[in-house]
Amino acid sequence: MKVLVVGNGGREHALAWKLLQSPKIDQVVCVPGNGGTATMKGCQNLPLTVDDFEGMSKFALENDISLVVVGPEVPLAKGITDYLQTKGLKVFGPTQAGAQIEASKAWAKALMEEAGVPTAKAAVFTEPTAAKNYIRTQGAPIVVKADGLAAGKGVIVAQTTEQAETAIDDIFQGQFGSAGSSVVIEECLFGQEVSVLALTDGLTIRPLLPAQDHKRIGEGDTGENTGGMGAYAPTPIATPELMQRVQTEVLERTITALRNRGIDYRGVLYAGLMVADNGDFKVLEFNCRFGDPETQVVLSLLETPLEDLILACVDQHLAAMPPLAWKKGSAATVVAVSGGYPGDYEKGKVITGLEDAQLAGAIVFHAGTKLNDTEEIVTDGGRVLNITGLGENFQEAIAQAYTGIKQIQFSGMYYRRDIGHRVLNPQS
Ligand code: AMP
Ligand code: GLY
Repeated sequence: MKVLVVGNGGREHALAWKLLQSPKIDQVVCVPGNGGTATMKGCQNLPLTVDDFEGMSKFALENDISLVVVGPEVPLAKGITDYLQTKGLKVFGPTQAGAQIEASKAWAKALMEEAGVPTAKAAVFTEPTAAKNYIRTQGAPIVVKADGLAAGKGVIVAQTTEQAETAIDDIFQGQFGSAGSSVVIEECLFGQEVSVLALTDGLTIRPLLPAQDHKRIGEGDTGENTGGMGAYAPTPIATPELMQRVQTEVLERTITALRNRGIDYRGVLYAGLMVADNGDFKVLEFNCRFGDPETQVVLSLLETPLEDLILACVDQHLAAMPPLAWKKGSAATVVAVSGGYPGDYEKGKVITGLEDAQLAGAIVFHAGTKLNDTEEIVTDGGRVLNITGLGENFQEAIAQAYTGIKQIQFSGMYYRRDIGHRVLNPQS
């Protein structure tokens, strides 16, 4: 089989890496890929943009691609699945209608309320005056969300009503482009976030191991929000009892509600949960794709061949698959970023020590890297590398990831030294 993977992050490198472990897959092509997918055996990059559906379909049809796996939300929300399906290609990822679950927070909220999925109390507004009046009646802290896709930046957790009102003005004045034509204002929840990535064929839905990521740039979970600075799995706060409730109260109810709306959703449904100290939980958001960097840890632990699961979703026979098999133990990934990220940063810094990190036992997933004209791997984005460790327990997995990352250098490199602090010191 030849598989096309759409995207260029650490998530897509992990997807390609996992797929290539199968004897059934002889080639993976990444669009556009990164320095890791350019240099991995069996993998090559195709320099198209992720919204060049026509270019991808032409390539796929001419090169016997039997499956397309879509990483990011933007092409899904633009209808890549619908387009490629009309060309006769098999695609893993929901249609444009299904992708609304991530692309419109108001749509997702209405679906959750209709389905009886536990979620934060919220109201939706299409103009600022009513939104601000509502904020004054609710008080702070309160959460303001631009409705549409905003690359993870459209959520403001406001500590004061003034901050919330400023956020309303920013959103309606176009700070997030068309993502801000309406806002969702939501009750502020407290607790720990857990990412449950589940695979579905539209009828059956199965969760992968629960993961936790670290969103803030600074140690101790301080500073600005980022795309994710590290992750680990399986997170112990998602107990078997909690996962059973997530299955029935979140995943199954959501798939049923999607079907009731006439949406045949095949792909990943990612539920972002807030778990309170008393073990109660609510859904913060849904994503229509694999999480990044959660995928890097979850796929490192998966033993079931990924292509079997993906094809079971696409061909709608997930119910017939045996239970998922997992490696024993834990996985952790530490993200190395460019100096300045999540603000401005420079690109093109030469990266050294990648092989040494692998020799030290870590798995090296590339994110914002590329192969330059002289065949060197250089930085090409904010999040640069995801160094992943496996171990019998969290101590070992985290130590393995840090042993790996210490081998690596590039000018301006930064990473958090405290990934996994909650599992290592549950009191922290
Ligand atoms: P979202 O894109 O909706 O997941 O929001 C991004 C981040 O904002 C989440 O991962 C949380 O850290 C935070 N967040 C979103 N909704 C809430 C909420 N209701 N209460 C507290 N924090 C939230
Ligand atoms: N790690 C968060 C996300 O993928 O949205």
